[in-house]
Amino acid sequence: MYKLFGTVQDITERKLAEQQLRRKTLEIEDLYQNAPCGYQSIDADGVIIRINDTALNWLGHEREEVVGRMKMTDILSPDSQPLFLDQFLRLKQTGLFQSLELELIRSNGSRLPVQVDSTAILDAEGHFVATRTMLSDNSARKQLEIERAAHEARLAELSRHMVDVQENERRKLAGELHDRASPNLAALQLTLSNLADALPPSVLTELEPMLGDAQALLLDTAAGIREICTNLRPATLDYAGLIPALQDYAQQFARRTGTAVRLDLAPLKTQLLPNVQSLLFRIAQEALTNCAKHADAGTIHLQLAETDEALIMKISDDGVGFDSCLLGESGSKPGLGLITMKERAEFAGGRFTITSNPESGTEITVTFDLHALSTLWKTRQHPSRRASDRMFQTGPGTL
Ligand SMILES: Nc1ncnc2c1ncn2[C@@H]1O[C@H](COP(=O)(O)OP(=O)(O)O)[C@@H](O)[C@H]1O
Ligand SMILES: [Mg+2]
Repeated sequence: MYKLFGTVQDITERKLAEQQLRRKTLEIEDLYQNAPCGYQSIDADGVIIRINDTALNWLGHEREEVVGRMKMTDILSPDSQPLFLDQFLRLKQTGLFQSLELELIRSNGSRLPVQVDSTAILDAEGHFVATRTMLSDNSARKQLEIERAAHEARLAELSRHMVDVQENERRKLAGELHDRASPNLAALQLTLSNLADALPPSVLTELEPMLGDAQALLLDTAAGIREICTNLRPATLDYAGLIPALQDYAQQFARRTGTAVRLDLAPLKTQLLPNVQSLLFRIAQEALTNCAKHADAGTIHLQLAETDEALIMKISDDGVGFDSCLLGESGSKPGLGLITMKERAEFAGGRFTITSNPESGTEITVTFDLHALSTLWKTRQHPSRRASDRMFQTGPGTL
């Protein structure tokens, strides 16, 4: 009786253990097969020896088509294959690769971007046997990247358009101000001197100081309007180009501020479109204004040079310098001048760098890849310099 009872209990326990084991196996199987990422193993020859249902669903293949039959390269886009083979080789040596961005080819020919992470399964002697590979669906991130790139391209386009609109408005305003005010001021000056001539000598003597004041005021107003017009849009930029405009501006600047400006403006082989010239002129203008406002510099050095690939403009001063982290990296609030320079240069396809410290002052460099410039702004390359380019030539000198 006792013996029989004991046997029944043994069977129940074993059955329970078997049930538990089956449940655990099913749970693990479910975790493997239906995970929200793909799992697979690849042997030393690159053949897929294990793959989960998620990855099979992504690929649209049957298990029998894949396991033991397909190599990893069979399910990768042609671009991804060399990348994978290179990393697979490295995995066999180092034991892992991480965050590899590849493209799977589905059975219907469509592509699925995935991120692949792999570790090596080794035998007792430490030889490579297979991989544990995880595939994560990257399509949402890739889509976001595409959208962000499109958004940035639209922003850059908008920024270039805004620069054009602003320059046109400034050009119009400067033109109107000049055309309306200058002839009137000249006429007033003539009227004043006619008036002086017409006055009887006794009255003239009495009014002479007042007439003198009026003349001086007129001259000052005319000079003021000329300066406003030049700042709005220097006419030289339109009729002679960037280099003469920079020379004129630097000369005026040196006179106005008493700071020496050394110019190294190499003649340009590339004929830049007016909007690119405007952009470079505005960057130089803002950089020089900053020197006057903040640098307390003895000398400012303005350089423009062209290599086969790039156009480089550099503005440096020997002033007090500043913490260039102000340029939006430290969370502190920078002014708009540097940010606008940087954004405009970058949206136009250029690179903007600034270095600054109290020992050596501040240096701003703007570099434009000539090829990028020609695609973005459609510049025209001239095989040989034209006669009119000669007027752009300048040598080193100090104003
Ligand atoms: N050449 C320079 N020398 C010293 N400090 C400078 C120079 N250029 C810019 N800075 C510093 O960077 C800050 C930001 O400049 P910017 O963006 O042009 O704004 P703003 O000129 O309106 O202050 C300035 O306030 C100044 O502290
Ligand atoms: Mg400024």
